[in-house]
Amino acid sequence: MDAPSVIRTKRDSGELTDAQIDWVIDAYTRGEVADEQMSALAMAILLNGMNLREISRWTDAMIRSGVRMDFSALPLPTSDKHSTGGVGDKITLPLAPLVAACGAAVPQLSGRGLGHTGGTLDKLESIPGWRALLSNDEMMTVLRDAGAVICAAGDGLAPADKKLYALRDVTGTVEAIPLIASSIMSKKIAEGTGALVLDVKVGSGAFMKNLADAQELARTMVGLGKAAGVNTVALLTDMSTPLGLTAGNALEVRESVEVLAGGGPADVVELTLALAREMLAAAGVHGKDPADALRDGSAMDHWRRMISAQGGDVDAPLPVAREQHVITASSSGVLTTLDAYAVGVCAWRLGAGRARKEDPVQAGAGVEMHAKPGDPIVAGQPLLTLHTDTPERYEYAIEALAGGIVVDPADTPFTAKPIVLDRIA
Ligand code: URA
Repeated sequence: MDAPSVIRTKRDSGELTDAQIDWVIDAYTRGEVADEQMSALAMAILLNGMNLREISRWTDAMIRSGVRMDFSALPLPTSDKHSTGGVGDKITLPLAPLVAACGAAVPQLSGRGLGHTGGTLDKLESIPGWRALLSNDEMMTVLRDAGAVICAAGDGLAPADKKLYALRDVTGTVEAIPLIASSIMSKKIAEGTGALVLDVKVGSGAFMKNLADAQELARTMVGLGKAAGVNTVALLTDMSTPLGLTAGNALEVRESVEVLAGGGPADVVELTLALAREMLAAAGVHGKDPADALRDGSAMDHWRRMISAQGGDVDAPLPVAREQHVITASSSGVLTTLDAYAVGVCAWRLGAGRARKEDPVQAGAGVEMHAKPGDPIVAGQPLLTLHTDTPERYEYAIEALAGGIVVDPADTPFTAKPIVLDRIA
């Protein structure tokens, strides 16, 4: 087998055989297939697609490139959630302890932010002392003691995806449904969760800009999960505007704690509860309403145990950026657009995100929103507060907001989008 012939098959819109897929994934993981060869193949896949057999074999080959985890020794059923990535998407933070409080164990392997979308690990690392890197034994101990664990995937889990995802990120080949589906599902299947709820984001701040593409991605991933024996469900959710009122690491931790304390923005609470209900149902856990666990403090207890077990000081003040800059409304009316992509890029440029994998992030940087689409606006009122340690970034960050905030006359009809747009099971 050789890489040019595999690339030519896909370049000419052919179907890759099982043997070609197994070989190319294994040889790439071992370094025998070079990055430039794999990037040519990834581009051919982006342009010409893969059928379900190819996607399923590709996923399986990536799982077989590393180890599989096993939680069968736990006394509780396991349930996990994966979001395809968005702006202000802090849902994992309140969701994992909430589901644990209701009786399912949550083994959540999370990632870091790249580009305009935030990453769960970057958010949690703003809590003083909190550690993302755990050994398998430590992960199991936190899961047993706190009912939920959020940590980085070890190097042994789907190493082919780790290499390929980094390559796709710098070769313009992220936005391919077969590659996204196999990337996400190889990690989730290798992780060994019994049930999985996918939060497939749709809109300007998501990889999938329209509902039809998101439905295709969701159907592909649900099919891969079920075929591997993971009870998988997908919710398609709106990402045309940021979730909640914050985008940025420590800012989002603060908002998540508000949700766990029974408050927080309505959209964050609604989506957290919708995903919690799906995760519990998929794991076969019935009888406890997650809304009660937010009210009675049991979700907060699990949060405190989970964060402390990973070295985090739950009572320490969260980092605050050195500088703040308020953006005010230039006219009165109704806020009709607060674009997720614009806010995500603004937060990223302020220092909340990274341009390269090895860049540090600023814990306190980000965007605080003072209004949401549909809210009445009075000229001069604060719309956003921008937080950063590096005020020289303000100009560049503010440029990202051009066209992303629209205040229309007060009598402009406005219909709020539902948060959950579809469900695929
Ligand atoms: N998240 C992943 O893990 N992989 C992708 O390809 C896209 C989002």
